[in-house]
Amino acid sequence: MRRNSTRLRLVGALAGALLTVVATGPAAQAHPDKEPPTLGELAQRHGRYFGSATDNPELTDTAYTALLGSEFGQITPGNGQKWYATEPQQGVFDFSAGDEIVNLARANHQKVRGHTLVWHSQLPDWLTGKEWTPAELRSVLKKHIQTVVRHYRGKVFAWDVVNEAFNEDGTYRETIFYKTLGPGYIADALRWARQADPHVKLYLNDYNIEAVGPKSDAYYTLAKELKAKRVPLDGIGLQAHLALQYGYPTTLEENLRRFARLGLDTALTEVDVRMLLPATEEKLAQQADWYRDLTEACLAVRRCVGITIWDYTDKYSWIPAFFPGEGAALPWDEQLVPKPAYHAIRQALR
Ligand code: G3I
Repeated sequence: MRRNSTRLRLVGALAGALLTVVATGPAAQAHPDKEPPTLGELAQRHGRYFGSATDNPELTDTAYTALLGSEFGQITPGNGQKWYATEPQQGVFDFSAGDEIVNLARANHQKVRGHTLVWHSQLPDWLTGKEWTPAELRSVLKKHIQTVVRHYRGKVFAWDVVNEAFNEDGTYRETIFYKTLGPGYIADALRWARQADPHVKLYLNDYNIEAVGPKSDAYYTLAKELKAKRVPLDGIGLQAHLALQYGYPTTLEENLRRFARLGLDTALTEVDVRMLLPATEEKLAQQADWYRDLTEACLAVRRCVGITIWDYTDKYSWIPAFFPGEGAALPWDEQLVPKPAYHAIRQALR
């Protein structure tokens, strides 16, 4: 009797366990209380990162920082490492804004892309308000690059060394650096950065170079020349600030491939997909398709190393202030609720 009831209990327990396995599936059974993987974890399975930009003022928003710290494998400071922030007076360096973000990212085990060393925008007044001789400006530029790169050595894995160097038609942008130093400032900037950190990946970064066209051709030609001269260049950053009303860059994958064939990494560095407001269900669905497509394009090209969205929530997007009447560009809405774009990215990464 006793033996029989023990056996019955045993059979019952086994049947129950079997039922549980059948009902939940072996994957769920293996990690019974595991959260679904984050975008960062999903990307990592492909050997890529999925990251977000962030900015210092937002870091007081605890609901925001919780998601920022958990969902992404990589962080880019949106403003904190720019020249106006890092060298507000000539020769006086201030790393407080950049450090705040880099330290937070490191505490969350996230990689950091450095952004940006040489750019025509957000320069301090002491730099723009004066006529420099070429010799003076070279020395100012070298000191800036090397001081910032040295400070972040070992803490950022890549730098946008020169940002937005070309016009839409593929001619050089007439920045203070180009006008004073000529086009060679780009090779110099890369070499100076390399001297300051032998291991960090060095990028040129720009917008509207996702598709094959005059502006991306300019980068292709320049990259080829720089490679031929053994100038240290590791990658091309395609910002990918897209807008539904201007159409999807259908040659993105082909474009990524041609840079890969030059021996370069690529990355989608500042992704957002804006739209004319109000956002409708239809526009959000189209936006989701674009996020899926660009994620798939990166995954299809081995040397596309990762994707960074230019902040993750519409609450802190730069778009409404710069393009009045446009917005809703990011995968999370202003209440930090995931939009169709978020689910589309997950699908692409699965
Ligand atoms: O720091 C001042 C603050 O003191 C003042 O109270 C406030 C009032 O407007 O402005 C603050 O400066 C703002 C700065 O961001 C820091 O928040 C500027 O107005 C604002 O123009 C600036 O915008 C940044 C923009 O670059 C400048 O071009 C965006 O946050 C930043 O996301 C954006 O990022 C760029 C990338 O670096 C390069 N690619 C394009 C991308 C979008 O423009």
